[in-house]
Amino acid sequence: MIADLYDDAYASFACSPTARHLFGPVLDSALPAGLEPYSFVTSEMLALVRTALREIHVDMLVDLGCGRGGPGLWLARELSCALVGVDRSRVAAVEANSRRSLFPSPAGLGSFVQADMQALPIRSASVDAVVSIDALQTSETAELTMGEISRILRPGGRFVATTWQAVDLTDHRVAPRLRVDFQRSATAVGFDKVRIREVQTAHEAEMELARTAVALDPRLVGEELILQRIVSEAVETLTHAGLTRRIILAASKPKCCSR
Ligand SMILES: C[S@@+](CC[C@H](N)C(=O)[O-])C[C@H]1O[C@@H](n2cnc3c(N)ncnc32)[C@H](O)[C@@H]1O
Repeated sequence: MIADLYDDAYASFACSPTARHLFGPVLDSALPAGLEPYSFVTSEMLALVRTALREIHVDMLVDLGCGRGGPGLWLARELSCALVGVDRSRVAAVEANSRRSLFPSPAGLGSFVQADMQALPIRSASVDAVVSIDALQTSETAELTMGEISRILRPGGRFVATTWQAVDLTDHRVAPRLRVDFQRSATAVGFDKVRIREVQTAHEAEMELARTAVALDPRLVGEELILQRIVSEAVETLTHAGLTRRIILAASKPKCCSR
């Protein structure tokens, strides 16, 4: 179960200065202090997400797969909007709630709930924007998730996500969940103005983190679950480097459509 794996990972992450260092200064020294993502989001990607969200008026933002909350809280402050974060991991939601005053938004502090992004406890057509930072790739059924996102967005609302995609969607060396044709899936559930942009600098930052992780002293990694997981994922990342690309996906819900 992904939720259980992430519960353990977040419990371990919170106690690991090395993990927070890897996903902080090693990944990108320009990340806002305290953001502490458990993702590969860089300051450039965050700025691009902010720009894509600023193209519309946002009062209410939902962050799917919010983790410990940092990226969503930062975006909500930058956009001066309210924030609800959703994560399947109970530990992540608890951690995020404990960090809700990290980047205070004039619209109020964010709140975080444990829920599945494919069955959101959020009313239809009730939010202006949905963001997802490095969480879409956890699902083998991205189209179901996008259908749910489309449901909660108001007409004219915007969805922006950072994730990965196979360079060649027919390449069977890459997991099916990374071979999603986002253009097709997003259009199939009613989105328009679908844009996909590759961010090469974020790929390079991820590679640097992976190289640093595999070079960690095994005695430091020891029994720390989060470091073991980071190192094994880093080996995988370096083995398959070049097969996937780092992307930002942006899509709009048409104004005329109430789906
Ligand atoms: C790589 S982490 C990214 C966390 C956070 N966005 C960040 O940048 O720190 C992916 C997150 O997606 C969450 N997740 C995975 N599948 C999910 C699902 N079906 N519904 C909600 N959250 C999910 C995981 O629990 C995890 O916190």
